[in-house]
Amino acid sequence: MSVFRSLAAGLLAASSLVHAQDSVSFNIDTYGQGDASGTPFQTYQSNSDVKPPQLQINKNSSGLAAGYVFIGVDGAPTSSQNWPTIYDMSDERMEISHFQAAKFGDNMGDLHEFTITSDDTALIIIYHAIPADLSVVDGPEDGWIFECTFQELNIETGDVVFEWNASTHVGVNETYNELGGTGSNETTPFDYFHMNSVQKDKNGDYLVSGRVMDTVYKISGNDGSIIWKLNGKDSDFDVDSNGVFAFQHDARWVNSDMKRITLFDNGPTDTIGYSRGLLFAIDEDAKTATLITEFTNEAQTFGQFEGCLQAIDPADDATNYFLGYGSQQFFAELDKDGNVLLDVQFGATNAVNSYRAYKLPWTGRPRTKPDVHYDQDGNKIYFSWNGATDVETWGVYTANDTQSSTWTRVANATRTGFETTIDLQGVGLQTYVRGKAVNGTGANLGWTRASDGTSLFDANDNVNDSNSTSTSSSSSSIATSSSTGVTAATSASSTGLAAARPTAGLGLREQVYVAAVVVVGGLAMA
Ligand SMILES: *[C@@H]1O[C@H](CO)[C@@H](O)[C@H](O)[C@H]1NC(C)=O
Ligand SMILES: *[C@@H]1O[C@H](CO)[C@@H](O)[C@H](O)[C@H]1NC(C)=O
Ligand SMILES: *[C@@H]1O[C@H](CO)[C@@H](O)[C@H](O)[C@H]1NC(C)=O
Ligand SMILES: *[C@@H]1O[C@H](CO)[C@@H](O)[C@H](O)[C@H]1NC(C)=O
Ligand SMILES: *[C@@H]1O[C@H](CO)[C@@H](O)[C@H](O)[C@H]1NC(C)=O
Ligand SMILES: *[C@@H]1O[C@H](CO)[C@@H](O)[C@H](O)[C@H]1NC(C)=O
Ligand SMILES: *[C@@H]1O[C@H](CO)[C@@H](O)[C@H](O)[C@H]1NC(C)=O
Ligand SMILES: *[C@@H]1O[C@H](CO)[C@@H](O)[C@H](O)[C@H]1NC(C)=O
Ligand SMILES: *[C@@H]1O[C@H](CO)[C@@H](O)[C@H](O)[C@H]1NC(C)=O
Repeated sequence: MSVFRSLAAGLLAASSLVHAQDSVSFNIDTYGQGDASGTPFQTYQSNSDVKPPQLQINKNSSGLAAGYVFIGVDGAPTSSQNWPTIYDMSDERMEISHFQAAKFGDNMGDLHEFTITSDDTALIIIYHAIPADLSVVDGPEDGWIFECTFQELNIETGDVVFEWNASTHVGVNETYNELGGTGSNETTPFDYFHMNSVQKDKNGDYLVSGRVMDTVYKISGNDGSIIWKLNGKDSDFDVDSNGVFAFQHDARWVNSDMKRITLFDNGPTDTIGYSRGLLFAIDEDAKTATLITEFTNEAQTFGQFEGCLQAIDPADDATNYFLGYGSQQFFAELDKDGNVLLDVQFGATNAVNSYRAYKLPWTGRPRTKPDVHYDQDGNKIYFSWNGATDVETWGVYTANDTQSSTWTRVANATRTGFETTIDLQGVGLQTYVRGKAVNGTGANLGWTRASDGTSLFDANDNVNDSNSTSTSSSSSSIATSSSTGVTAATSASSTGLAAARPTAGLGLREQVYVAAVVVVGGLAMA
């Protein structure tokens, strides 16, 4: 039994176990360049709207955490790759499948941060031009900077709960950025701070990353004053020499203990020519930042901008970590000691990127119907359901009338990936054929429409399942004979919109992604 079929087939050139359904023409050098025909997309019979990126899996070991991989594929305009995409990658179901949400559109807004806090408020970052004296960096006295403001907002009313302007508290003299040609007018302000993450802690204070300050700030939730600075020109902390970071992203307390911080160190520092995730032990009293673990992928990629590091289960000190290379199209999962367990590339350099990447628990229950394509000549039927995480089995049913309340099950197959293909050679069929998505305990999750081999028809969903089942067992000779012939192969499809909801007990990061999807993808929240 192939553990890993067509979608993955494009990904795992080395594996002899792969039974490819989709072609494996992944030319990494041209990925995302030129027209769609020249890019390594997946395409699917049951849904032609969806073309998720193929993946190059460089390493896959056991020990992966449960959960789904979330990336926001942000491609070059010609790549047709601007989608939030969810991959199913865990030891429990490594088969690889994906769920692709609505397209970002060609013009993504600047979404440096959109976090829902535990108080159900939202944190956002705003860039806007203000006048500033730039003489300290040899610029004009009547110059302009990008003010970096973060706001905590009441989601219901939109009221500002808290607001902080970088320029009120941090001088231009502390930047590592260079003016270049900027700063002389309002249109091209000097980006002296570059705020790129904000997290609210349990005491109501904020952890803020200023990328071009090489500094993580703790900001008082009472008055906005700086409680301390970690790293940079004016650090209050002694930072381990091998932990000194530069141009960082995604600075987070790991959990409410506030003893450890993760961040993505884009670097390079003077001594390190690659980017890395860093896990620090933080002692706020002694003002020490001790490097616990450095995380890199096997190639030790340098990602000049964007990037993230996630403690997958923040409550577990032995948790795995998820590393996203931001501007470079790589993500990796590592154990707590930094050993690479999963190492994936999803495109060619400068063709696609993902601002952050996460591994999260997720349950998707689409409001759409599952999709079907019946290839009458080829005797195959294809099923998929974009965004659905609970489908274990697909049943194939037939009837002579779309409105029939009794449909006869003639075949079924375990879901094998995003698209499941079932061979109907030798299976007796009436005029219409359709599918039913079934979960792990046998419950009906949804019926597809019905196909006569040419068109799709709305069909009766109010079907007596037990009747269908009993009808099927009475025609068990068909089901049995077909079951030997039933082969399931993976491909994939998706509809645009899926109603999806996170599982209970989500932490901060899960909510970050949910919010981002709502904003950019227009997902309906169940
Ligand atoms: C990853 O490895 C696991 C076993 O450790 C295997 O079951 C799975 O098929 C592999 N998947 C890929 C994509 O290599
Ligand atoms: C931040 O700066 C803006 C002007 O750029 C100002 O309107 C706002 O009141 C400031 N907020 C705080 C908290 O100082
Ligand atoms: C930047 O200027 C402020 C205000 O003059 C000063 O307090 C701070 O020490 C300076 N920082 C550096 C790194 O020189
Ligand atoms: C603003 O400054 C930039 C960089 O010097 C320049 O290219 C641009 O023309 C200026 N715009 C205006 C409106 O002066
Ligand atoms: C379905 O229709 C076909 C063609 O009219 C007929 O041969 C067949 O017996 C019908 N099947 C059932 C179960 O009614
Ligand atoms: C299948 O769905 C039923 C009905 O919603 C639910 O009670 C059951 O827990 C589900 N089983 C699994 C394995 O999710
Ligand atoms: C479905 O069929 C079963 C078995 O024949 C019967 O007991 C049940 O009442 C039927 N349900 C409906 C809604 O018709
Ligand atoms: C289910 O089967 C029973 C007995 O054969 C029949 O009376 C009933 O109408 C069927 N229900 C449906 C929804 O077809
Ligand atoms: C799949 O088909 C087999 C053989 O007919 C049957 O025993 C089994 O219950 C079916 N499973 C589902 C989930 O329909």
